[in-house]
Amino acid sequence: MKISDTLWIAGEASRAAAVASFDWVGRGQEKAADAAAVDAMRTTLNVANIAGKVVIGEGERDEAPMLYIGEEVGNGDFAVDIALDPLEGTTLCAEARSGAMAVIALAERGGLLHAPDVYMEKIAAATGLEGVVDLDFSVSENINRLAEALDKPISEVQVCMLKRERHQTQIQEIRRIGAKLVLIDDGDIAAAIQVATGAGIDLYLGSGGAPEGVLSAAAYKCLGGVFQGRLLFRNDTERERAAKWGVRDLNRKYDIHDLAMSDVVFAATGVTDGSLVSGVQPGDSGFITETLLLDSASNRRLLIEEDRG
Ligand code: FBP
Repeated sequence: MKISDTLWIAGEASRAAAVASFDWVGRGQEKAADAAAVDAMRTTLNVANIAGKVVIGEGERDEAPMLYIGEEVGNGDFAVDIALDPLEGTTLCAEARSGAMAVIALAERGGLLHAPDVYMEKIAAATGLEGVVDLDFSVSENINRLAEALDKPISEVQVCMLKRERHQTQIQEIRRIGAKLVLIDDGDIAAAIQVATGAGIDLYLGSGGAPEGVLSAAAYKCLGGVFQGRLLFRNDTERERAAKWGVRDLNRKYDIHDLAMSDVVFAATGVTDGSLVSGVQPGDSGFITETLLLDSASNRRLLIEEDRG
């Protein structure tokens, strides 16, 4: 068995989580929505023909009852590491806003960075822009270089960021140099992937969750492009947590292959309609779902619509 063979397992797991969350769309109950997604994803993984270990999950063992970091899942002997976010955008789901989705990536054992649950500073751009943008450049330098490489005026460059107070300085810089800025409320995995797929946004910038960073990098491993991240620590507790997970150099700049080291498969199923995948709808045979499936080894990129239970 090879990692490509787990592509359908990833798809089943993300679909199950998305369908389970669907009942909770618009009900204002983030925790219940997340719990339903976690339970469904775990149930699906536990009957899969893998010996899986969760490396990016719902939290540490003492804070998450299911799909905690280190939990072993599956019913087989093919060893894989798993990064998962059964409900990415819990608030989006609870408030029936666009962009909630279920996400999972599977890699060979040891193939994913064991990122602690801290923030990560991120930059992402499409394939062909390797060496053009970099986490170490200033915002204006990145946008200037990008505009030149894409041969378009700065006023036509579209940047995407999470709308957060902590991004004020960068937001002001983007406004000052005159690029377009798409501000999103939540969901930086979808935003980063949208950049890779060339769907209108040229650059993703800003800090979000490090676990989401590893999942985004898994998608980039399949799609190509630039994805870089650096862990951000707010206090010593976070630094100690990182050290516990084996992070030696706290200032390290990670690229795609540092975050997703082996071949990977990636799946994302929409819960609510989003830029990447459509949300769950009731169908004739159960639920209509849309799942993005990616496989780095075979280069498969599939968008699958299904109507079933
Ligand atoms: P949740 O599903 O855990 O709520 O994450 C949503 C999200 O927007 C992520 O996409 C992003 O990486 C992170 O939250 C940003 O964190 P914060 O809301 O603290 O800025």
